[in-house]
Amino acid sequence: MSSKRIFFTGGSGKAGKHVIPYLLDQGHRVINVDLVPLDHPGVDNLIADITDSGQMFNAMTSYAGFDELEPGNGVPQFDAVVHFAAVSRILINPDNETFRVNTMGTYNVIEAAVKLGIKKIIIASSETTYGICFADGQTNPTALPLEEDYDVDPMDSYGLSKVVNERTARSFQRRSGLDIYALRIGNVVEPHEYAKLFPHYFKHPEVRRRNAFCYIDARDLGQIVDLCLGKDDLGYQVFNAGNDHNGAIIPSKELAERFFPDVPLSRELSEHEALFSNRKIKEVLGFKEQHNWRRYVS
Ligand SMILES: NC(=O)c1ccc[n+]([C@@H]2O[C@H](COP(=O)([O-])OP(=O)(O)OC[C@H]3O[C@@H](n4cnc5c(N)ncnc54)[C@H](O)[C@@H]3O)[C@@H](O)[C@H]2O)c1
Repeated sequence: MSSKRIFFTGGSGKAGKHVIPYLLDQGHRVINVDLVPLDHPGVDNLIADITDSGQMFNAMTSYAGFDELEPGNGVPQFDAVVHFAAVSRILINPDNETFRVNTMGTYNVIEAAVKLGIKKIIIASSETTYGICFADGQTNPTALPLEEDYDVDPMDSYGLSKVVNERTARSFQRRSGLDIYALRIGNVVEPHEYAKLFPHYFKHPEVRRRNAFCYIDARDLGQIVDLCLGKDDLGYQVFNAGNDHNGAIIPSKELAERFFPDVPLSRELSEHEALFSNRKIKEVLGFKEQHNWRRYVS
């Protein structure tokens, strides 16, 4: 796969700090655009605020590092934008601020990328769009497994901001014809978290109901982003970004019967197949997970 020059927002966060190293390992050049820098060898950093449109247009027409001054050909074009920067859940900021930063930030990033002719844009959406995660009380989806054609209907400001961002992406894609892919990212797990979190999840599976028992290994998320970078001409796409199995030891059918007793299954599930389906990334992008939790928890 060819090396790409990537404008990455929010790379200093929980997910980005694993996804960026994965992309560097694949030979890409990455500039991290965030309010705080990422201290990792080979990453260029630019401090900028996604809620400021001028900063996004300017940063996207910027050198990535001092070495790019040398050829004397002016500023190179970015090949792709990967947009992860966000207020990443409810209850960090007031709800209206979460909604403002996420929706205006995403509008600004996509608008600048499209108007500057950057051909590939990947944005972080979320499993919370399915409406279970931050619901008031316990709510049921209309069917399981959760798949991309679901009529997403969250009742919280964060999930809503991600639904709005998907519509923003779709609107800009329709006008421009460029490739814009939205990743509905599952609950991100960093390598050191398996030992800390999963034994508790197995003892108390009820704590994972709001996530529909999903998880995405942060390194496997890197693979998914890289696969999106390498796949062209899909137009507007939504992909669930999750691992193959549930983050649970109970088989899927039993898990569904116990925690979602009134929810119909839309198709047969294999023994541990995730209720947050990753079938589309496997079929369309060729995703092959590397980091099933069974490698790290006995
Ligand atoms: N962590 C998860 O389980 C999870 C699940 C689903 C979706 N997501 C989404 O994936 C993306 C990454 O999540 P994360 O867990 O790494 O989040 P995080 O909160 O750890 O990191 C977000 C990053 O965005 C930056 N940021 C925030 N506001 C900004 C602004 N105005 N301008 C520039 N940078 C700004 C922060 O400094 C931070 O480095 C987010 O879009 C999040 O909504 C995360």
